[in-house]
Amino acid sequence: MKEQLANIRAQALAAFDGAKDSAALDALRVQYLGKKGELTAVLKQMGKLSAEERPAMGQLANEVRAALEEALEAAGKKLEAAALEAKLKLEAVDVTIPGDSVAIGHKHPMYSALDEIKDIFVGMGFTVLDGPEVELAYYNFDRLNAEEGHPSRDWSDTFYFDADSRVMLRSQTSPMQVHAMETMELPIRIIAPGRVYRKDEVDATHSPMFHQVEGMVIDKNVTMSDLKGTLNAVVEQLFGKGTVTRFRPHHFPFTEPSCEMDVQCHKCGGKGCPTCKGEGWIEVLGAGMIHPKVLEMSGIDPEVYSGWAFGMGLERLAMRQFKITDLRLIFENDTRFLEQF
Ligand code: DAH
Repeated sequence: MKEQLANIRAQALAAFDGAKDSAALDALRVQYLGKKGELTAVLKQMGKLSAEERPAMGQLANEVRAALEEALEAAGKKLEAAALEAKLKLEAVDVTIPGDSVAIGHKHPMYSALDEIKDIFVGMGFTVLDGPEVELAYYNFDRLNAEEGHPSRDWSDTFYFDADSRVMLRSQTSPMQVHAMETMELPIRIIAPGRVYRKDEVDATHSPMFHQVEGMVIDKNVTMSDLKGTLNAVVEQLFGKGTVTRFRPHHFPFTEPSCEMDVQCHKCGGKGCPTCKGEGWIEVLGAGMIHPKVLEMSGIDPEVYSGWAFGMGLERLAMRQFKITDLRLIFENDTRFLEQF
């Protein structure tokens, strides 16, 4: 028995010392000191000993138990310390490692162009409106005098949500004219920038989503010369004093008369070059006097009030301002491109 006790002691101490973690150590505690453990098994045999042998053996057994318990506690502490050390090592911060640089962005060139346009119009007393991109065909077409069957309502050009062609992604910012007429007091001076959508294939000059800026003035005695004077003043602020414009007759269902405004090419001064595709002029917007029917549909008496409106493509303007030759660059958001502005 003495030998058994000595064996248990030696084995247990070695095992405790080699335990990899506290779970393993606990298993060893059960194995040696538990109720069904090896030491207990030996103690159970005490009854078989003679009365003389028993006290000495009892004392030895108690010594072994005490030694095991002590070793167990020491091993536990050692494991705890090691775990703490490992954790600290893992969490250590090396303050000498250079930090990751955080990329700070800046305004997209198209929005810089828009901000400039907004500033110019706000300076002239215009209010900037925001409106829905999901629009009723009623506002996008009917209320703008483009009735059923008008070519611009075609399915091949327009993103409709329903088979009845009633709900759509707006194809122009012009419905904002109607929203303004419905909600604002006269006189009205607004611009309404925003996204518009058309079923166009992507290429250097087309995108199924692009931006327009709508503008509208309604007051008494508003004339075509107010339209021309205002737009000429805006263009001079955008492109510089003395910028030459021309107004060409055109057709839009919601204006009468209608026109398009061109700006003389800044590159060649009107002689014709690759920038203006040999034309000498660059088209920047559509405009006109608001059709009396459009005013009437919104409850405004065309005998008392008149107004003008325009709609311009924002990308085209930004491309001109920043000398960008491919529309796709504006939307791809490649930072190598955007960083240049
Ligand atoms: N909505 C027209 C378009 O997308 C542009 C336009 C033309 C707007 C004349 C107007 C306007 O307000 O008066 O082509």
